[in-house]
Amino acid sequence: MKNLKNIAVFASGSGTNFEAIASACEDGRIPARCVLMVCDKPGAPVIDRAARHGVPSFVFSPRDYESKAEFEKKIVEMLDAAGVELVCLAGYMRIVGEVLLNAYKGRIINIHPSLLPSFKGAHAVEDAVAYGVKVYGITIHYVDETLDGGRIIAQRAFDYDGSDPAEVHRLGQIIEHQLYIDTINKLLNV
Ligand code: GAR
Repeated sequence: MKNLKNIAVFASGSGTNFEAIASACEDGRIPARCVLMVCDKPGAPVIDRAARHGVPSFVFSPRDYESKAEFEKKIVEMLDAAGVELVCLAGYMRIVGEVLLNAYKGRIINIHPSLLPSFKGAHAVEDAVAYGVKVYGITIHYVDETLDGGRIIAQRAFDYDGSDPAEVHRLGQIIEHQLYIDTINKLLNV
């Protein structure tokens, strides 16, 4: 196959977005190779998903490093070695530091389960349900040094008039998987 670009996915937990991206790379819906999965939580389910898809993993525990700069240096080495052109954060629950940003700024994107700039942070869905909003959504944005604050690339909204965060997560994840595939394709110019 010709001119396939290399992408990496970072995740901390379940990895359904990782799996959607890896599957789409395998069957040609994304004409790229998923060459690396980075996970900061040893034991997270995403690690088994990566193994099942034959995607090499770098799994680390931040407490084994002296600082964020130290583990990000290691991540940058791995991204460079794998020739990664686009980094997709998919439930990577960690603010990206300056070492990784300096090396890959403009090539790191993140998916977030709200219509940014509303409901930033780790509990976006729960916060939106508590607020009582009626229109929910998903955002994909470039990553910068601020929390959930980089330039927006894509958003998709959906209606929900209820009070069950689990249902919002369920509805949102269906949208997330397709939006991530569509957005990666847009950024890879395909
Ligand atoms: C996704 O819903 C993603 O939007 C969210 O984590 C979930 C990961 O799910 N990210 C954030 O909340 C970032 N602030 P997954 O592990 O099943 O892909």
